[in-house]
Amino acid sequence: MANLNTNYMGLNLRSPIIAGSSGLTSSLKNIVEIERQGAGAVVLKSIFEEQIRFEAHQAHSFQQSPYPEAWDYIHQYTQSHELDKYLRLIFDAKENTSFPIIASINCITAAQWTSFARQIEQAGADALELNIFILPSDPFRSSEENEKLYFDIAKAVLRELNIPVSIKLSWYFSSLTRTFLQLSWTGIKGMVLFNRFYSPEIDIDTLEVTSGHVFSQPGELNLPLRWIAMLSDRMHCDLAGSTGVDSGEEALKLLLVGAKAVQMVSALYRYGFSRIADTNQQIGSWMDQRGYESLEQIIGKMSLKNIENPASYERVQFMRHFAGVE
Ligand SMILES: Cc1cc2nc3c(=O)[nH]c(=O)nc-3n(C[C@H](O)[C@H](O)[C@H](O)COP(=O)(O)O)c2cc1C
Repeated sequence: MANLNTNYMGLNLRSPIIAGSSGLTSSLKNIVEIERQGAGAVVLKSIFEEQIRFEAHQAHSFQQSPYPEAWDYIHQYTQSHELDKYLRLIFDAKENTSFPIIASINCITAAQWTSFARQIEQAGADALELNIFILPSDPFRSSEENEKLYFDIAKAVLRELNIPVSIKLSWYFSSLTRTFLQLSWTGIKGMVLFNRFYSPEIDIDTLEVTSGHVFSQPGELNLPLRWIAMLSDRMHCDLAGSTGVDSGEEALKLLLVGAKAVQMVSALYRYGFSRIADTNQQIGSWMDQRGYESLEQIIGKMSLKNIENPASYERVQFMRHFAGVE
């Protein structure tokens, strides 16, 4: 079968399929199984900045304490701590697997929590993914203020770490191309397009606010497809596709427009981890049938620069001729 190796932010992956961050990637048992099924890497469930800040604050207040007994308490306290558990998971995952382990932090400020990132590196993580999202809902915050935060966080974390850092982003940017291009110049090595969030829904029978689809639906691939196609030739970092990858078909589409790797989550919840092996198989067969031997031959083959009519990715209006609908 064709060689599925790819290089994503300096990491050698034996497959472009990465198990994306979710509840499925928070246990050692699952991580071992994800590797066994042939994934190129795993992104651990995000740890939250609030958790890190809370714990840092607790430890700091104990340090100020005049009572030495407080230190015993701290010791016990940190033993049972979520942060310790997270570091332990990284350590154990490294001990029990041989594929790249990407840690993930959900963050919204560039505050003092960033020193925790260093502990993630020390625990053995091969890379860190920053899951940053600020819903731009505050009418008193300008787009510059919102965007500055992404740069501040990236720079603060990059100062602490030697391992590659990626950012997982949303599409809520007024000048998406410019902002992403500038972010790619900060020294980050990867960009994950796009994250998918909890969305509220409404029940018209009970008139209650409920949760929208937790898992991505067919058709959601169109958003990363367009933007990766338009950005991949320009970025100064690697791109990974995320949202709507259900099988080899969607994975191939994102690779063709320029993603170096793709992340899967909803499909793993729906069909189980064997979906990773199936997806590798589908990509390999597609390549074999067409005589491609390595992923390098297909990555970016259909990016903006490489297609005959680049306007196809820029088109936004449904004109009859293109949509094929009266
Ligand atoms: C139950 C669940 C939990 C998730 N938790 C995280 C998380 O902790 N951190 C994160 O960056 N993304 C998280 N995500 C988002 C996924 O990593 C992914 O970006 C999103 O589901 C879109 O990919 P998909 O279409 O393959 O599901 C979660 C998604 C689901 C469904």
